[in-house]
Amino acid sequence: MAQLTHVRYTPRLTLRPFALTDLDDLTIIYQHEEICRYLYWDPRDRAASLAALEKSVQRPIDIVDDNVLNVAVTIKGTNRVIGDFMLRWMKNEHRQGEIGGSLHPEFHHQGFASEVYTELLVIGFTLYELHRIVGRCDARNAASVRSLERVGLREEAHFIENEFVKGEWTDEIVMAIRKSEWAPRPNAREA
Ligand SMILES: CC(C)(COP(=O)(O)OP(=O)(O)OC[C@H]1O[C@@H](n2cnc3c(N)ncnc32)[C@H](O)[C@@H]1OP(=O)(O)O)[C@@H](O)C(=O)NCCC(=O)NCCS
Repeated sequence: MAQLTHVRYTPRLTLRPFALTDLDDLTIIYQHEEICRYLYWDPRDRAASLAALEKSVQRPIDIVDDNVLNVAVTIKGTNRVIGDFMLRWMKNEHRQGEIGGSLHPEFHHQGFASEVYTELLVIGFTLYELHRIVGRCDARNAASVRSLERVGLREEAHFIENEFVKGEWTDEIVMAIRKSEWAPRPNAREA
């Protein structure tokens, strides 16, 4: 995983690198059953969150090979982490990326995920020169599908029972956008 090199701003949010001091906030997000319902893992305790956080803060920045950029999301002017988002990129020659993330339940339904994704698309398409970016969702995860639609991703595939997650067969929807389809929104800037 890699860290953001610059703090970035959206209209209401700050996107910054994670720090070990974010452990309490991250633990609070992933201890919720409802947050983990459509994720691959069960609710995490503090030790599991620490292990994930340590990976995130220790990996070097390297945009050449496969890598993941982890982004801590805070409301502008505050330091509490309310969201954990990522931009992953695969195999440089294909220039493919993936976005995803989770928000503390208190902050759902306010357009925050769409705001973060808008900025991750800017980073992916302009800084990392990706060709196509996807979002992968459990087909039942309407909020995830909708938040990706809001920033221009369209449904590209609906796989039927392609994964066995938490004891059941699940469908997966792949949402996608190519750089040629993307219309950047000029509302974010670097610090
Ligand atoms: C997915 C997630 C990040 C979306 O965050 P969010 O900030 O609430 O999303 P936004 O407000 O930007 O957009 C949500 C959209 O989904 C809609 N939505 C939310 N919950 C919904 C539901 N249960 N059914 C249908 N639509 C829903 C909202 O109305 C909104 O659409 P609208 O703009 O047309 O009204 C958040 O729900 C979350 O953290 N979920 C748990 C973790 C998770 O599943 N992450 C995705 C992994 S792929």
